Amino acid sequence: MNPKQKIRKATTHISQNEPLIFEKSSAGKKAYKLPPLDVPEVDPAKLLGGHARTDLGEIPEVSEIEIIRHYTRLSTWNYAVDHGMYPLGSCTMKYNPRVNEYVARLMGLAEAHPYQPERVSQGALRILKMLSEQLIEITGMQAITLQPAAGAHGELTGILMVRAYLESRGNPRKKILIPDSAHGTNPATAAMSGYTVENIKSNALGMVDIAALEAQVNHDVAALMLTNPNTLGVFEQEIHKIADILHAKGALLYMDGANMNALVGKVRPGDFGADVLHLNLHKTFSTPHGGGGPGSGPVACKKILEPFLPAPVVSTKKDGTLGFDYNRPKSIGRVRMFYGNFGMHVRALAYIMANGPDGLRQTTEDAVLNANYIRKKLEGVYDLPYRTPTMHEVVFSDRLQMAKGIKTGDIAKRLIDYGFHPYTVSFPLVVHGALMIEPTESESKAELDLFIDAMKAIAEEAEQNPELVAEAPHNTRISRLDEVSAARKPVLRWRPQTEAVAK
Ligand SMILES: Cc1ncc(COP(=O)(O)O)c(C=O)c1O
Repeated sequence: MNPKQKIRKATTHISQNEPLIFEKSSAGKKAYKLPPLDVPEVDPAKLLGGHARTDLGEIPEVSEIEIIRHYTRLSTWNYAVDHGMYPLGSCTMKYNPRVNEYVARLMGLAEAHPYQPERVSQGALRILKMLSEQLIEITGMQAITLQPAAGAHGELTGILMVRAYLESRGNPRKKILIPDSAHGTNPATAAMSGYTVENIKSNALGMVDIAALEAQVNHDVAALMLTNPNTLGVFEQEIHKIADILHAKGALLYMDGANMNALVGKVRPGDFGADVLHLNLHKTFSTPHGGGGPGSGPVACKKILEPFLPAPVVSTKKDGTLGFDYNRPKSIGRVRMFYGNFGMHVRALAYIMANGPDGLRQTTEDAVLNANYIRKKLEGVYDLPYRTPTMHEVVFSDRLQMAKGIKTGDIAKRLIDYGFHPYTVSFPLVVHGALMIEPTESESKAELDLFIDAMKAIAEEAEQNPELVAEAPHNTRISRLDEVSAARKPVLRWRPQTEAVAK
């Protein structure tokens, strides 16, 4: 082994405890110096009357170096994909290439205004059109909207389109079928769209049980929402059959395409029977997850659903220029202001074009290879409940470690001590005590080996010194939190000490 690889990443860190910026404040300190006023001074009350705000509340007063150090130190408290491997299964925390950021910051794109006339927005419209066409080609579908702002938002859009389609045929239906291996947003979407949710059990291979599906599909079923590959990282091998069973009863196949990073360039959902699907640009196409947003969840569909797409859609006018078509009487309406998160569309297109078809295929192969490398190296060290081939993520369980009382959450906390972000804990629900690991294609073999090494060391510690794991993390600024209180009684607002005490 290369001697460098023996160096574990964990060390004690320079990050110190840090008061809030308000607590650092002392009256009169400034981080700026203004030039002398060279225009007549105006009394704001005269200018704005009663609207002038005179009480500015408490604003922190600090020097420049204090403010710079404060925020620089805070930035080191977060773990990011730019720090190291972020194996959060299902979330696909892949690296965001810098070329995307460069393109998105080009002035003409970053400063384009959504109300700009179409004639001076031809470049932006072309980007929307090109991305639409490329995503249609990648998915094998026939039409698309880029409006939805997240995966779950795409699901809602897609299912509302299914509902509108069935209603337009005078055939409204009541139920949506969802396998137990689906992503949690799927049942939430179906319920929000006014459907009742019926669960389908997975078989021993972690796939949809075809016999159960056949028994459950009837003329009340609007659609099956199928995450493929599912949350076990397993590809639904009977997907053609599944589509046929649904179509024979007039139901549609909604595919949750958030895991398309396991399929791009290899197979196309449109070819295996999906009628509508959403993509997560912030997973598959490397746009940033960005602390909850802005994301992007385009919805692609077959021709039968095109009339129901949210308005407006990009269209080519008679004179050959691009514009927006708002005249769509069957549309489910707008789902997001303007045209969606345009900055994300620019980044995704940059990613697709920088990779090209072969690069995208290679990315898929590398993501699957990396997950399988981890699977092979950790099989036996951790319990592997489903032995079906793994795609882009692998799900172990804590069954072996539970003999010493060590749970998946403990192992995840200990992983922080080794310098890695934890994997996804206790999900999917079909696996008790799940460890869901998704390395993505971004990681080198050297980084994967460090991770595997850390996971093996933790398994050994769980055996030899379980308290060490049960009380982890040890190398962090803050040790284990009371997670129940943090979730149930979050303190989200700062108040001055005296006021806080008084309340
Ligand atoms: C399979 C799957 N479906 C849906 C979603 C929901 O996407 P979002 O978090 O963007 O709403 C996710 C999120 O990671 C996912 O992994």
